[in-house]
Amino acid sequence: MSENPEPGRPDVIFCPNGPMLLRGDHAVRDEDGDDHRTTRPVSAVCRCGGSKIKPWCDGTHKAMRKPSRD
Ligand code: FES
Repeated sequence: MSENPEPGRPDVIFCPNGPMLLRGDHAVRDEDGDDHRTTRPVSAVCRCGGSKIKPWCDGTHKAMRKPSRD
């Protein structure tokens, strides 16, 4: 893992009802013990369990949202 490219700003951000965003280089270990390295400026890690490209988010969480009561 590299140093935070923007010191003072978080390099891990949890999106409400969505993915965890990683800023900069990271290695992510999935549930099978396989490591996935990312060197992208920002990577999205699935937290909903619905992605077909785990550990990365593919946007499926948007379809899993509960309908609003508005
Ligand atoms: S958080 Fe986006 S697909 Fe799971």
